[in-house]
Amino acid sequence: GLIGGSSLALALGVQSYQRTPANTKIEPFERSLIIPPLLKPIRSDETTDYYEITLQKSSTEILPGLKTEIWGYNGIAPGPTIRQSEGRKSVIRFINKLGKDSQGKPINNVIHVHGMATSAAYDGYTTDYIPPDYFKDYIYPNERASILWYHDHTMDLTARNVDAGLAGMYIVEEPEDLNLPLPKGNYDIPLILQTKRFAQDGSIIFYNQTPDNLYGNVLLVNGVPSPKMEVARRKYRFRILNASGGRNYQLALSQKIDSLTEGEKLIVIGSDGGLLSEPVEIVTPEQVLPVVMAERYDVIIDFSKYPLGTEVFLQNVIQGLDFSGSVAKNAQINPIMRFDVVRSEADESEIPRQLRPVERLSVTSNIPERTFIFRRNQQGKWAINGKTWDENRIDAHPQSGAVEIWHFINPEKGMMHPIHLHLVEAQLLDRNGEPPRPFERGWKDVFLLNELEELRIVARFKGSNGEKLTGKFMMHCHQLLHEDRGMMSQFEVGDGGLDPVATAPAQPLS
Ligand code: C2O
Ligand code: CU
Repeated sequence: GLIGGSSLALALGVQSYQRTPANTKIEPFERSLIIPPLLKPIRSDETTDYYEITLQKSSTEILPGLKTEIWGYNGIAPGPTIRQSEGRKSVIRFINKLGKDSQGKPINNVIHVHGMATSAAYDGYTTDYIPPDYFKDYIYPNERASILWYHDHTMDLTARNVDAGLAGMYIVEEPEDLNLPLPKGNYDIPLILQTKRFAQDGSIIFYNQTPDNLYGNVLLVNGVPSPKMEVARRKYRFRILNASGGRNYQLALSQKIDSLTEGEKLIVIGSDGGLLSEPVEIVTPEQVLPVVMAERYDVIIDFSKYPLGTEVFLQNVIQGLDFSGSVAKNAQINPIMRFDVVRSEADESEIPRQLRPVERLSVTSNIPERTFIFRRNQQGKWAINGKTWDENRIDAHPQSGAVEIWHFINPEKGMMHPIHLHLVEAQLLDRNGEPPRPFERGWKDVFLLNELEELRIVARFKGSNGEKLTGKFMMHCHQLLHEDRGMMSQFEVGDGGLDPVATAPAQPLS
């Protein structure tokens, strides 16, 4: 129907974002950016921190003068940020108090920490439900410093649940002995980008309720539409996450609201799976940083070059289906947020020329290769190799510890898919035979698959510390409606690995 290729191109081409319900008006850059609170452990021992998060409904003002019901982790959207040190374990008890939806159906939930290598029993298998008034303790090893995020993964309903608010950031910190002088503390800030669609009464229209609302109409940063943030003349580290169900962004800085000024820099130091080996500069007006659905980028902005009083806009550069990282002639500019440079401050931080070495997986001629084609099948369903999701079917059996090359193919014009693998961080070998762009050369778990493209990625199928993690793990398009409607598959590491649903089921609250 309408949720096809042409509507994507259309939406990306000309739609203006802050088209709000008629009875309310967002004054851009009026409200300040909110930084989601840090989640504190309820107790800790030598190896592990224990946390608790309650999933609950609450009512909040997102659009001026209107109340919006959200479903949030601890009742807020985005949820609290979890920060953990590499190598320390987390045990998180998720308690589902969401009750019923508007049709009286129980709101089941599944928790997935996106980017985490953990046992299949704690990975958030799509039918491993926490029903209302149940809880489940999830165990996370945190073996790789990176920007992760946690979100719902309920079968067929992920789009609705994430749109309702069930998403938050999870940062695993680099080890102290890496000793990088990067900006820390108050200068290390999550930016969670989401576009949602709001009805006249302020309620969120879930994008599986009507065909034309896939892309939303209000762009939020950490839950706030068009925020401003006061900054000092120094470097900041931003952990950027695209948590949108159906939108991609292409980021650039500018001193003007409606065009790109010369020489503004985003300095990319990391991607989904952690630091790059060296920083990559994205410089206006030629370059942009594409951040597709579910991708994360670790970015430094140095405000020291701007005089006090300067306004710097984080822009979304909209240009159809071309996510090449360079700016097209007909691109449109849409401001996402504004930084106000308001004070001078000493800055001890630095951006080292060498960050953290990225081990290259070696590609030999005899390693297994598999091919996955992402397109609608003959029944018109979103599919992988013609097949839609079936929990009883396994599409690949990599051996534990095996290195494999996977080909992702998108033969369709006018459509892109962000492809996500659970369990592993992988490396992009090439895209239509061309080497990856510089900011795509680190570890990644989401791969932009543009129209008419073939990607080759290489992965080693085990946990990041080499621990054997057997069992079933999902692979899917992270356009959440594609995922919900069938564009999801699973692979099983090892033969007859543990059952992700039966091994550690949710338990009733007593
Ligand atoms: Cu971010 Cu399978 O999910
Ligand atoms: Cu898709």
